[in-house]
Amino acid sequence: MSLVEQLPMNTPALRPSRRILITGGAGFIGSNFVHYWCKHYPGDRIVVLDALTYAGNRDSLADLIGQSNFRFVQGDICDSNCVDLLLAEEAIDTVAHFAAESHVDRSILAPDAFVRTNVVGTFTLLDSFRQHWSNRGKPESDRFLHVSTDEVYGSLGPNDPAFCETTAYTPNSPYSASKAGSDHLARAYFHTYGMPTLITNCSNNYGPYHFPEKLIPLMAINILMGKSLPVYGDGQNIRDWLYVEDHCSALDRVLHRSAVGETYNIGGNNEVKNIDLVTMICDLMDELAPNLPVRPAGELITFVKDRPGHDRRYAIDSTKLQTELGWQPSVTVAEGLRHTIQWYLENPAWWQPLLSAEYQEYYQSVYA
Ligand code: NAD
Ligand code: DAU
Repeated sequence: MSLVEQLPMNTPALRPSRRILITGGAGFIGSNFVHYWCKHYPGDRIVVLDALTYAGNRDSLADLIGQSNFRFVQGDICDSNCVDLLLAEEAIDTVAHFAAESHVDRSILAPDAFVRTNVVGTFTLLDSFRQHWSNRGKPESDRFLHVSTDEVYGSLGPNDPAFCETTAYTPNSPYSASKAGSDHLARAYFHTYGMPTLITNCSNNYGPYHFPEKLIPLMAINILMGKSLPVYGDGQNIRDWLYVEDHCSALDRVLHRSAVGETYNIGGNNEVKNIDLVTMICDLMDELAPNLPVRPAGELITFVKDRPGHDRRYAIDSTKLQTELGWQPSVTVAEGLRHTIQWYLENPAWWQPLLSAEYQEYYQSVYA
């Protein structure tokens, strides 16, 4: 049962079915989007292409594997042969591109994979789809949705207005620089070839199936294990939290209602300082988790050395999406966080296997 019953854009009966390729569909947002799409558009053909890196998890799609309208393909978006074949074989008319290296701390440790997947991989997909779309006679209803981040806009001061679609790109990390490069390619494929691309830039997502390295699951899992809660710097950095299902409903609007070549910012209207968010997580764990090794959980909070180049504040202005496409976020951070914490408490079988030796090695290198 989902937290919010988001209304789909079009009732399936009134809408021609689509054949959608979802890259990165075994990752956090991708798997939530796959579930959203299957639920709202059961007549569509859904094909997931995912390399199953450390961040990809078949278990996030376990309930769908074997369904007749669903296919999972393990493959790399940088492999043009694989992409060409899949687009043609499945007669894909819509691409929702989530596949990426997504974690800022890892991009600081090892940026090369970020350039490869985020820049070269996105280029490979765009170029394969250009050929495929042309072979299909350039149908007007085909779409290529490139899912990107607010981090391309850089960092805000305390009184700066929130990022809007015309804010200049100022990416500060190898991750955000690689995403900025991929955004420019998607934009160029519309302007040069008329390809029906769409770009969305969203703020920090949270919800079920979030890999343990990210702030919210990391804190929840550490509390369950009685480990310290590493807050970077002074904890005053601000993020604008977007519940993942609200993000999916926004992408639905963009795919169904936007003119081609457009960019939309998607945010949750939930600006929160990191230290306040971690305190909220601690309070929820104190309330909802029966046997905590350390209680109150807030005793575990530890300020640690800051992330290099740590952006101070992100905030999204979604006015364009709200006024042009009629979307609104429906979940407050208090509601979404409660649901998310409950999900992690109920699903240790999903996250425990992810705390592998490889993950511990990564953890040591960031938090040593
Ligand atoms: P994630 O790291 O959880 O998942 C990424 C998925 O991509 C994984 O399943 C991984 O196996 C797959 N992948 C990685 N490299 C691949 C390759 N070369 N070929 C095929 N598959 C590959 O990421 P996420 O948090 O779900 O983010 C999804 C997208 O949304 C990304 O493009 C990210 O930049 C963007 N985004 C994320 C957030 C957020 O808060 N999580 C916010 C804004 C934008
Ligand atoms: O803004 C959108 C971006 O949000 C996405 O593009 C990225 O893919 C996604 O990973 C996320 O990036 P962040 O760097 O903001 O997310 P992260 O969960 O890593 O960190 C959130 C904030 O919490 C950030 O200010 C750093 C801080 N933090 C993070 C970790 C992991 C800590 O203080 N301690 C931690 O241990």
